[in-house]
Amino acid sequence: MPLLELTDVTASYGRVQVLEGVSLRVPDGGAVGILGANGAGKTTTLRAISGTVNVGGRIVFDGTDITHAGPEKVASLGIAHVPEGRGTLMNLSVRENLQVGAYLRKDRRAIAGDIGFLLEMFPNLGRRISQNASTLSGGEQQMLAIARAFMAKPRLLVLDEPSLGLAPSTSKEVYDAIQRLREQSGIAMLVVEQNANLAFRVVEEATVLETGRSVLTGTAAELRGRDEIRKAYLGG
Ligand SMILES: Nc1ncnc2c1ncn2[C@@H]1O[C@H](COP(=O)(O)OP(=O)(O)OP(=O)(O)O)[C@@H](O)[C@H]1O
Ligand SMILES: [Mg+2]
Repeated sequence: MPLLELTDVTASYGRVQVLEGVSLRVPDGGAVGILGANGAGKTTTLRAISGTVNVGGRIVFDGTDITHAGPEKVASLGIAHVPEGRGTLMNLSVRENLQVGAYLRKDRRAIAGDIGFLLEMFPNLGRRISQNASTLSGGEQQMLAIARAFMAKPRLLVLDEPSLGLAPSTSKEVYDAIQRLREQSGIAMLVVEQNANLAFRVVEEATVLETGRSVLTGTAAELRGRDEIRKAYLGG
């Protein structure tokens, strides 16, 4: 049974339907990407999963139908979403941001252990543990947002364009850290990205969205074998 399965998911904002039929699966412990141009519906797909837009079709997480579940329920079942634009708490320190991420947990010793683990995965954060989040660079803020989401001990980490607004070299650093986190923790991931070469540093396969529909799913090699997909998403 996949950890997450979307079947023919539709979604609309008011009367405007933007998802016309999105289907994808994340295997338990797997990492899957969502590729697509601006406006294709990538963020909306993540909002559909997180319970912040009205959806049709069917979304099942770990055997539970979450199609119409709200955001608190979805989070409590173990899906942590790092939205576009990050959302770190700017007036709190790095350590406080990580502690806030664990606010639903009671296992104090394990929380301290997880903070230690994350500082190994994201050494930049370790060096800035007492600094205000507002003083971090864009890449560091993205890392902090991911680390904070991980502190909730989710089963699935959902990342919306971690490279957004970052220079190419910084994007690579962020993806190196995501890759370390994935390898060391084995956590399942669903990663939205416009740059397929970045996404495939972490994911085993990806689904391509075009105007609100999933049109194709495959490994990097499979997508590279499709001329039109390679030209649009894999840099020619
Ligand atoms: N809150 C909203 N209200 C109305 N329409 C919206 C809203 N958010 C997104 N849309 C529209 O839905 C469509 C899909 O948007 P979405 O943000 O899901 O795309 P995306 O693939 O994430 O794009 P990007 O790569 O630019 O982030 C777009 O046409 C967008 O204008
Ligand atoms: Mg988006």
